[in-house]
Amino acid sequence: MTNLKPARILAVETSCDETACAIVENGRALLSSVVASQMEIHARYGGVYPEVASRQHVLSVTPVVEQALAQAHLTLKDIDAIAVTQGPGLAGSLVVGMNMAKGLALGSGLPLVGVNHLEGHLYSAWVYEAGDTLPPEPQFPLMALLVSGGHSELNLMTDHLTYQRLGSTLDDAAGEAFDKVARLLELGYPGGPSIQKAAEEGDASRFHFPRAWLEGTYDFSFSGLKTAALYEVRELKKRSGSLPVHDLAASFQKAVVDVLFKKTMKAAREFGAKEILVAGGVSANRALRQTFRAQTEFSVHIPPLSLCTDNAAMIASAGYYRYALGHTSALDIDVLPTWSLSQVTA
Ligand code: KG4
Ligand code: ZN
Repeated sequence: MTNLKPARILAVETSCDETACAIVENGRALLSSVVASQMEIHARYGGVYPEVASRQHVLSVTPVVEQALAQAHLTLKDIDAIAVTQGPGLAGSLVVGMNMAKGLALGSGLPLVGVNHLEGHLYSAWVYEAGDTLPPEPQFPLMALLVSGGHSELNLMTDHLTYQRLGSTLDDAAGEAFDKVARLLELGYPGGPSIQKAAEEGDASRFHFPRAWLEGTYDFSFSGLKTAALYEVRELKKRSGSLPVHDLAASFQKAVVDVLFKKTMKAAREFGAKEILVAGGVSANRALRQTFRAQTEFSVHIPPLSLCTDNAAMIASAGYYRYALGHTSALDIDVLPTWSLSQVTA
């Protein structure tokens, strides 16, 4: 998009278990990005422990913001607005980033911009490393598949900040299914990367797991697949005592990728999309990336691996478009733990 005012946005993201701060120029050029991951802490519990996450954010948020400014060789005087994840996410975690952002805005007199976390994931496809060649900007109408630990949805994006939700998961999110099946296969947390790794040496055609096509809708469902994996694991354990973990992981991953890919392609054709965008933690999955990249019907935008999982660069990018298009927030905004993309207004 041309004619938008130039601006540098500093963003804070603390919706789950990563404390992150980033600075992005004009919605696209990444000047710095710092992510303090709590993964090792939560791995002990096999998932995110909300109270531990909030307290860890309290410890990390100030140094993370300081590092992001230092890495970009900037001070708050060089920044035009402060963006922050408003929701959805864990309330106690969101509050920490929100208060940090309000403090920065209040102290510096800069405007505050509340950003929907899911909107942020979509905008990760706009971001590139400053100094690298500028990649082509995603073109509207855009069919956006958002697959994370908490959400799986298909959105038609007809313009900046304008989303039409076509479908979402009826039960587990895609990332959640990866995490639960990984636990079943006794693979490490988080489940997505460990299933991907195990699947690399597996035969994806060994087990035929069910695909919930939910014909006539753009919704998803992964609970049947998860249950099928559970029964298969029980049966195999009863019969032989050991598990062909690689083949199970590969067959499960193939079932998830199949559904996500085919439904997105169908929606892109039906709604006349120009291009496809895939974002969220699960978009880091190699099989998913390869499948989308192998088709030639649509140009596909998938963020670099470092921007697939939670980060603040994506919040800064979405925050830029909100700021440049005149949607700043009041200093008394609340966090919205269950806020959905369909409630976002441009
Ligand atoms: O976007 P994200 O970092 O956090 C949420 O907003 O939920 O997504 C985290 C999810 C987790 O469920 C994790 O298992 C999944 O993304 N994930 C992956 C991969 N890397 C992360 N799933 C499949 N393959 C991967 N390589
Ligand atoms: Zn996320």
